[in-house]
Amino acid sequence: MTDNFQVAIDGPASAGKSTIAKILATNLQYVYVDTGAMYRAITLAAKNAGVNYDDEAGVVDLLPTITLRFEPGTPVQRVFLNDQEVTDAIRSTEITNNVSLVSSYAAVRNDLVARQRDMAASQNVIMDGRDIGTTVLPDAPVKIFLIASVDERAQRRYQENLAKGMSVDLATLKAEIQARDYKDSHREISPLVQANDAILVDTTGHNIDEVVAIITNIIKDKQHK
Ligand code: DC
Repeated sequence: MTDNFQVAIDGPASAGKSTIAKILATNLQYVYVDTGAMYRAITLAAKNAGVNYDDEAGVVDLLPTITLRFEPGTPVQRVFLNDQEVTDAIRSTEITNNVSLVSSYAAVRNDLVARQRDMAASQNVIMDGRDIGTTVLPDAPVKIFLIASVDERAQRRYQENLAKGMSVDLATLKAEIQARDYKDSHREISPLVQANDAILVDTTGHNIDEVVAIITNIIKDKQHK
Protein backbone atom coordinates (compact mmCIF):
# COMPACT_ATOMS: atom_id res chain seq x y z
CA MET A 1 0.00 0.00 0.00
CA THR A 2 1.02 3.59 -0.48
CA ASP A 3 0.64 6.82 1.48
CA ASN A 4 -0.05 8.76 -1.68
CA PHE A 5 -3.47 10.21 -2.34
CA GLN A 6 -5.31 8.85 -5.33
CA VAL A 7 -8.29 10.17 -7.22
CA ALA A 8 -9.88 7.70 -9.67
CA ILE A 9 -12.14 9.09 -12.39
CA ASP A 10 -13.94 6.61 -14.61
CA GLY A 11 -16.69 6.99 -17.15
CA PRO A 12 -17.66 6.55 -20.78
CA ALA A 13 -16.01 8.19 -23.81
CA SER A 14 -16.23 11.98 -24.04
CA ALA A 15 -17.79 12.51 -20.62
CA GLY A 16 -15.13 15.17 -19.93
CA LYS A 17 -12.84 13.01 -17.80
CA SER A 18 -9.52 14.22 -19.17
CA THR A 19 -10.47 17.92 -19.21
CA ILE A 20 -11.69 17.78 -15.63
CA ALA A 21 -8.87 15.52 -14.39
CA LYS A 22 -6.22 17.77 -15.87
CA ILE A 23 -7.62 20.91 -14.20
CA LEU A 24 -7.96 19.11 -10.86
CA ALA A 25 -4.39 17.83 -11.13
CA THR A 26 -3.07 21.34 -11.81
CA ASN A 27 -5.08 22.83 -8.93
CA LEU A 28 -4.03 20.14 -6.46
CA GLN A 29 -0.51 19.70 -7.86
CA TYR A 30 -1.08 16.02 -8.43
CA VAL A 31 0.18 14.09 -11.43
CA TYR A 32 -2.46 13.43 -14.07
CA VAL A 33 -2.42 9.95 -15.64
CA ASP A 34 -4.57 9.56 -18.75
CA THR A 35 -4.88 5.78 -19.03
CA GLY A 36 -6.95 6.03 -22.24
CA ALA A 37 -3.90 7.64 -23.86
CA MET A 38 -1.87 4.57 -22.85
CA TYR A 39 -4.33 2.18 -24.58
CA ARG A 40 -4.34 4.50 -27.59
CA ALA A 41 -0.52 4.48 -27.69
CA ILE A 42 -0.44 0.66 -27.75
CA THR A 43 -2.97 0.76 -30.61
CA LEU A 44 -0.74 3.22 -32.48
CA ALA A 45 2.33 1.05 -31.79
CA ALA A 46 0.51 -1.83 -33.53
CA LYS A 47 -0.27 0.38 -36.52
CA ASN A 48 3.33 1.62 -36.73
CA ALA A 49 4.66 -1.93 -36.56
CA GLY A 50 2.27 -3.11 -39.27
CA VAL A 51 0.50 -5.47 -36.85
CA ASN A 52 -3.22 -5.93 -37.50
CA TYR A 53 -5.41 -4.76 -34.63
CA ASP A 54 -7.11 -8.16 -34.52
CA ASP A 55 -3.79 -10.00 -34.26
CA GLU A 56 -3.80 -10.35 -30.46
CA ALA A 57 -0.50 -12.31 -30.26
CA GLY A 58 1.19 -9.78 -32.56
CA VAL A 59 0.04 -6.85 -30.41
CA VAL A 60 1.05 -8.61 -27.20
CA ASP A 61 4.55 -9.34 -28.59
CA LEU A 62 5.11 -5.60 -28.94
CA LEU A 63 4.47 -4.83 -25.26
CA PRO A 64 8.00 -5.44 -23.86
CA THR A 65 9.44 -3.14 -26.53
CA ILE A 66 7.12 -0.23 -25.72
CA THR A 67 7.99 2.71 -23.47
CA LEU A 68 5.30 5.24 -22.56
CA ARG A 69 5.83 8.61 -20.97
CA PHE A 70 3.72 11.68 -20.22
CA GLU A 71 4.85 15.28 -20.02
CA PRO A 72 2.73 18.20 -18.86
CA GLY A 73 1.39 20.22 -21.80
CA THR A 74 -1.28 22.72 -22.77
CA PRO A 75 -4.12 22.27 -23.62
CA VAL A 76 -3.51 18.51 -23.40
CA GLN A 77 -0.92 16.37 -21.71
CA ARG A 78 1.89 15.33 -24.10
CA VAL A 79 2.28 11.62 -24.77
CA PHE A 80 5.49 9.88 -25.89
CA LEU A 81 5.66 6.40 -27.39
CA ASN A 82 9.23 5.07 -27.49
CA ASP A 83 10.41 8.68 -27.04
CA GLN A 84 8.46 9.93 -30.05
CA GLU A 85 5.68 12.42 -29.42
CA VAL A 86 2.30 10.92 -30.36
CA THR A 87 -0.03 13.40 -28.62
CA ASP A 88 -2.06 14.08 -31.80
CA ALA A 89 -1.49 10.78 -33.59
CA ILE A 90 -3.25 8.78 -30.85
CA ARG A 91 -6.45 10.86 -31.36
CA SER A 92 -6.95 9.97 -35.05
CA THR A 93 -10.26 8.40 -36.08
CA GLU A 94 -8.49 5.15 -36.99
CA ILE A 95 -6.94 4.80 -33.53
CA THR A 96 -10.18 5.88 -31.81
CA ASN A 97 -12.17 3.24 -33.67
CA ASN A 98 -9.72 0.39 -32.93
CA VAL A 99 -8.62 1.12 -29.38
CA SER A 100 -11.56 -0.74 -27.81
CA LEU A 101 -10.44 -3.96 -29.53
CA VAL A 102 -6.79 -3.59 -28.50
CA SER A 103 -7.79 -2.69 -24.94
CA SER A 104 -9.87 -5.87 -24.67
CA TYR A 105 -6.74 -8.09 -24.78
CA ALA A 106 -5.92 -9.50 -21.32
CA ALA A 107 -2.15 -9.21 -21.69
CA VAL A 108 -2.45 -5.58 -22.83
CA ARG A 109 -4.58 -4.77 -19.79
CA ASN A 110 -2.27 -6.60 -17.35
CA ASP A 111 0.74 -4.78 -18.73
CA LEU A 112 -0.85 -1.32 -18.58
CA VAL A 113 -2.49 -1.86 -15.19
CA ALA A 114 0.97 -2.70 -13.76
CA ARG A 115 2.43 0.49 -15.28
CA GLN A 116 -0.48 2.53 -13.89
CA ARG A 117 -0.07 1.11 -10.37
CA ASP A 118 3.66 1.90 -10.51
CA MET A 119 2.84 5.51 -11.35
CA ALA A 120 0.40 5.76 -8.44
CA ALA A 121 2.88 4.17 -6.00
CA SER A 122 5.40 6.98 -6.19
CA GLN A 123 3.27 10.14 -6.40
CA ASN A 124 -0.18 11.63 -5.78
CA VAL A 125 -2.25 10.97 -8.88
CA ILE A 126 -5.50 11.79 -10.58
CA MET A 127 -6.02 8.88 -12.90
CA ASP A 128 -8.80 8.64 -15.45
CA GLY A 129 -10.04 5.69 -17.47
CA ARG A 130 -12.64 2.92 -17.41
CA ASP A 131 -11.42 0.57 -14.68
CA ILE A 132 -9.43 2.75 -12.28
CA GLY A 133 -11.83 2.56 -9.33
CA THR A 134 -12.69 -1.11 -9.92
CA THR A 135 -9.34 -2.65 -10.87
CA VAL A 136 -6.30 -0.39 -11.04
CA LEU A 137 -6.70 1.47 -7.72
CA PRO A 138 -9.50 -0.29 -5.82
CA ASP A 139 -8.39 1.42 -2.58
CA ALA A 140 -8.38 4.96 -3.99
CA PRO A 141 -9.92 7.27 -1.35
CA VAL A 142 -11.83 9.22 -4.01
CA LYS A 143 -13.65 7.52 -6.87
CA ILE A 144 -15.75 9.46 -9.32
CA PHE A 145 -17.94 8.00 -12.07
CA LEU A 146 -18.39 10.80 -14.59
CA ILE A 147 -21.23 10.57 -17.08
CA ALA A 148 -23.11 12.78 -19.56
CA SER A 149 -25.90 12.07 -22.04
CA VAL A 150 -24.86 10.60 -25.40
CA ASP A 151 -26.18 13.69 -27.21
CA GLU A 152 -24.14 16.03 -25.09
CA ARG A 153 -21.00 13.90 -25.46
CA ALA A 154 -21.41 13.80 -29.25
CA GLN A 155 -21.92 17.55 -29.30
CA ARG A 156 -18.73 18.12 -27.24
CA ARG A 157 -16.69 15.85 -29.55
CA TYR A 158 -18.18 17.68 -32.55
CA GLN A 159 -17.07 21.06 -31.19
CA GLU A 160 -13.58 19.70 -30.40
CA ASN A 161 -13.26 18.36 -33.94
CA LEU A 162 -14.42 21.65 -35.44
CA ALA A 163 -11.84 23.50 -33.37
CA LYS A 164 -9.17 21.15 -34.79
CA GLY A 165 -10.43 21.77 -38.34
CA MET A 166 -11.81 18.22 -38.67
CA SER A 167 -15.33 17.87 -39.99
CA VAL A 168 -17.27 14.77 -39.04
CA ASP A 169 -21.03 14.85 -38.89
CA LEU A 170 -22.78 14.78 -35.56
CA ALA A 171 -24.78 11.61 -36.26
CA THR A 172 -21.58 9.70 -37.12
CA LEU A 173 -19.90 10.90 -33.91
CA LYS A 174 -22.91 9.87 -31.87
CA ALA A 175 -22.91 6.39 -33.46
CA GLU A 176 -19.15 6.01 -32.83
CA ILE A 177 -19.53 7.00 -29.18
CA GLN A 178 -22.41 4.55 -28.73
CA ALA A 179 -20.38 1.77 -30.38
CA ARG A 180 -17.41 2.47 -28.09
CA ASP A 181 -19.66 2.62 -25.00
CA TYR A 182 -21.05 -0.76 -25.93
CA LYS A 183 -17.64 -2.39 -26.48
CA ASP A 184 -16.10 -0.82 -23.35
CA SER A 185 -19.04 -1.93 -21.17
CA HIS A 186 -19.37 -5.45 -22.57
CA ARG A 187 -15.80 -6.68 -22.76
CA GLU A 188 -14.91 -9.67 -20.60
CA ILE A 189 -12.06 -8.17 -18.59
CA SER A 190 -12.54 -5.04 -16.48
CA PRO A 191 -15.55 -3.67 -18.35
CA LEU A 192 -16.61 -0.09 -17.79
CA VAL A 193 -18.75 -0.23 -14.67
CA GLN A 194 -19.31 2.09 -11.74
CA ALA A 195 -17.43 0.90 -8.62
CA ASN A 196 -19.76 0.31 -5.65
CA ASP A 197 -18.09 3.09 -3.70
CA ALA A 198 -17.77 5.57 -6.59
CA ILE A 199 -19.70 8.83 -6.54
CA LEU A 200 -21.79 9.42 -9.67
CA VAL A 201 -21.34 12.89 -11.20
CA ASP A 202 -23.59 13.68 -14.19
CA THR A 203 -22.06 16.54 -16.17
CA THR A 204 -25.00 16.97 -18.56
CA GLY A 205 -25.88 20.66 -18.55
CA HIS A 206 -22.93 21.60 -16.31
CA ASN A 207 -19.96 23.60 -17.49
CA ILE A 208 -16.37 22.64 -16.72
CA ASP A 209 -16.01 25.03 -13.76
CA GLU A 210 -19.13 23.62 -12.12
CA VAL A 211 -17.93 20.04 -12.46
CA VAL A 212 -14.45 20.95 -11.16
CA ALA A 213 -16.07 22.61 -8.13
CA ILE A 214 -18.27 19.58 -7.41
CA ILE A 215 -15.35 17.15 -7.53
CA THR A 216 -12.99 19.48 -5.62
CA ASN A 217 -15.50 19.50 -2.77
CA ILE A 218 -15.67 15.71 -2.80
CA ILE A 219 -11.84 15.46 -2.67
CA LYS A 220 -11.51 18.06 0.11
CA ASP A 221 -14.14 16.26 2.11
CA LYS A 222 -12.21 12.97 1.90
CA GLN A 223 -8.84 14.60 2.62
CA HIS A 224 -10.18 16.06 5.85
CA LYS A 225 -11.52 12.76 7.13
O1 DC B 1 -10.54 7.73 -22.57
P1 DC B 1 -10.27 7.40 -24.04
O2 DC B 1 -11.46 7.62 -24.93
O3 DC B 1 -9.05 8.08 -24.56
O4 DC B 1 -9.98 5.82 -24.02
C1 DC B 1 -9.67 5.12 -25.19
C2 DC B 1 -10.08 3.66 -25.08
O5 DC B 1 -9.22 2.98 -24.18
C3 DC B 1 -11.50 3.40 -24.59
O6 DC B 1 -12.37 3.21 -25.67
C4 DC B 1 -11.38 2.14 -23.77
C5 DC B 1 -9.94 2.02 -23.44
N1 DC B 1 -9.65 2.23 -22.03
C6 DC B 1 -9.72 1.14 -21.21
O7 DC B 1 -10.11 0.07 -21.65
N2 DC B 1 -9.38 1.26 -19.90
C7 DC B 1 -8.96 2.42 -19.40
N3 DC B 1 -8.60 2.51 -18.12
C8 DC B 1 -8.90 3.57 -20.23
C9 DC B 1 -9.26 3.44 -21.56
